[in-house]
Amino acid sequence: MEIPYLKYFGLSEKPFGLTPDPLFYFETETHREALSHLDFLLGQKEGFALVYGDVGLGKTTISRIFLSSLDENIYNTALILNPIMDEDELLRTILKELGLKTNGSSRKELYDALECFLLKEHRMGKETVLVIDEAQLLSNELLEFIRVLSNMETEKEKILRTVLFAQPELVERLKEPSMRHLAQRITVTYKLKPFSERDVRHYITYRLIKAGSKGTPGFTKGAARLIYKASNGYPRLVNILSDRCMLSVYSKSKAIVNKKTVARVLKEENISLTSVIKNPLLVQPYRIIVLCLVGAILILLALYVVNVLGLR
Ligand SMILES: Nc1ncnc2c1ncn2[C@@H]1O[C@H](COP(=O)(O)OP(=O)(O)OP(=O)(O)O)[C@@H](O)[C@H]1O
Ligand SMILES: [Mg+2]
Repeated sequence: MEIPYLKYFGLSEKPFGLTPDPLFYFETETHREALSHLDFLLGQKEGFALVYGDVGLGKTTISRIFLSSLDENIYNTALILNPIMDEDELLRTILKELGLKTNGSSRKELYDALECFLLKEHRMGKETVLVIDEAQLLSNELLEFIRVLSNMETEKEKILRTVLFAQPELVERLKEPSMRHLAQRITVTYKLKPFSERDVRHYITYRLIKAGSKGTPGFTKGAARLIYKASNGYPRLVNILSDRCMLSVYSKSKAIVNKKTVARVLKEENISLTSVIKNPLLVQPYRIIVLCLVGAILILLALYVVNVLGLR
């Protein structure tokens, strides 16, 4: 579909898409920390890792970056994107991801096929990493089954590393007594953090440049600050807002997104960012000054009246 503003701004593609495209990957401190935690897991002889964070914070993006960082001469990888399935389907999906045929086998045969593959690869110096995105959707039964899978081992070490990417509700579930076996196996846990205000400013510019921008549209510092406040630094919200702002300036044949543009978009969209709208002090800080001035004048007036009455 033709995006109206691309030609106008001289862009080759949409800068603020909603898919986790690794080409637009922007690395901040939290991403470096997440990746180094996962590196630590790879160095261990066993264990699970859990990377978690709120909706739209970048879990799928970082999972792709993690997978692409693995040397394929050393690691086999299996990625499960949507884990709403049963045990047999999980085994089949893992085997398929690892490039193995699985036609019409029983669970035992599927399990044995996986174990056989992992052992053979391990002997040849290759490790296997299972990555599960949206892991909060795993049923308790499937979580337990994944724990059982991760028990496959040689005499010395486990032969399947597992990384779960999940929303925070999984962390809560793991506190339940029935989940303690799995919880004890999670040796690496990392909570993704939102972008800082500075990150948001650089992120917006970075994505624009990646999309071919030669300077237009320009986002002012004030606009980036308001986008940061409205999004709390959550990249998906930053993308949604930035895209709407571009559309807004395009429709007015302008090239600069400023604070006013963002405030207008927030108002129009009335998205869950209304807290910012409802709090006009955030949108229009000059009102603070006006309020302070009015307060000061009232105090002076009161002092004057008290003084005059006092003298009489
Ligand atoms: N580090 C990043 N660099 C570039 N873009 C990012 C980054 N993190 C997130 N995004 C962008 O933010 C949006 C949401 O990211 P993503 O889908 O990875 O979030 P999520 O945490 O997996 O969301 P959900 O909880 O819905 O699964 C995507 O458009 C993605 O491109
Ligand atoms: Mg995701």
